[in-house]
Amino acid sequence: MVVKLIKLGIIGTNWITQRFIDAVKLSQKYELTTVYSRHEETARQFAVKNGASETFTNLDSFFSKGKFDTVYIASPNSLHFEQAEMAIQHGKNLIVEKPAFSTQKQMAKIQKMLAENPQVLYFEAARNIHTENFHAIEKKLGQLQVVQGAEFTYSKYSSRYDLVLQGQEPNVFSLKYAGGALQDLGVYTVYDAVALFGMPEETAYFPQLIRTGVDGKGTAILRYPEYNVTLNFSKISNSHMTSEIYGLKDLIEIDDAGEINAVIYIDDDNNKQVIGNTIDENPMLPEVEDFARVIDDPKNSQNKKDYDYWLQLSVYVNKLIYNLRQAAHISFVGEKK
Ligand SMILES: NC(=O)c1ccc[n+]([C@@H]2O[C@H](COP(=O)([O-])OP(=O)(O)OC[C@H]3O[C@@H](n4cnc5c(N)ncnc54)[C@H](OP(=O)(O)O)[C@@H]3O)[C@@H](O)[C@H]2O)c1
Repeated sequence: MVVKLIKLGIIGTNWITQRFIDAVKLSQKYELTTVYSRHEETARQFAVKNGASETFTNLDSFFSKGKFDTVYIASPNSLHFEQAEMAIQHGKNLIVEKPAFSTQKQMAKIQKMLAENPQVLYFEAARNIHTENFHAIEKKLGQLQVVQGAEFTYSKYSSRYDLVLQGQEPNVFSLKYAGGALQDLGVYTVYDAVALFGMPEETAYFPQLIRTGVDGKGTAILRYPEYNVTLNFSKISNSHMTSEIYGLKDLIEIDDAGEINAVIYIDDDNNKQVIGNTIDENPMLPEVEDFARVIDDPKNSQNKKDYDYWLQLSVYVNKLIYNLRQAAHISFVGEKK
């Protein structure tokens, strides 16, 4: 049987795109055909290294002439929206890095365009919720007799904070490029909360702002009818705190809310049972395989169900992040509400 590979184009040539392409190679479901970069030499180098046949430095030409059917968008956050609009206008499926969009208005426009172009598939690359270990958490949570909230932590010092301390403003710490901790590692914790508990009734965000005006770290509290979920995330400090989901006497312990490498169930008598310890060869492989499954057969009932669920999650996460940010009075440069 001849397997039809998904023809892939990419925007952004940083390490995360290389990691995505490495996952794509492992999956054997895609073929990288087309590379866009602002710089010809960067595009050429990426293409040669990864076996792509075409390069572009002009986005219009990339979308109108490129021979791909799906685009992976891994540009700075503030550029995702316009590039996503172009992708849909050109009938390309799109995999957009998290956070896909910065405002609810942008998300609503993309939803409208997707409804008008039902052949186009959209995915937000929230890798944590696609992992075996996350599915183990979902399953165990469903078995708890009582649920009394959770604390999710994902904090990792970013080497790019060194540049901020030297007086520079890298994109990830810039209001111009929709940066900040909530927009970065925070997204994973918001995905954890929304996928496991749904949308909260009330929220509060206490950011720790840095010189560039973005949140370097912060704590968000999500209030549900019967419990709270607390999110801690940082790009300017490290943390080894585990994350926990509380039952009555029992709990689920997660090593790290973003990476989710180890999940342990601790019962009423303090017995520990490892319920998830799958370490993927590449952390992006589970999402890459999930997206390929749906792109290959979007009409399959399970695939359609998964697709609709991921789209709904993406809309909820966008809304929650936007509301948290607004309540904390963090506005991006040129932001249209
Ligand atoms: N899933 C994950 O684990 C993960 C990890 C890291 C980042 N991300 C996400 O991936 C996206 C990219 O993050 P990043 O840290 O790689 O961003 P970045 O380094 O600031 O930029 C990514 C790419 O966009 C292009 N670019 C950079 N500055 C630009 C500008 N001013 N105007 C136009 N294009 C520009 C560059 O490609 P060219 O020079 O080739 O044009 C660059 O390689 C973000 O949405 C981030 O949240 C996800």
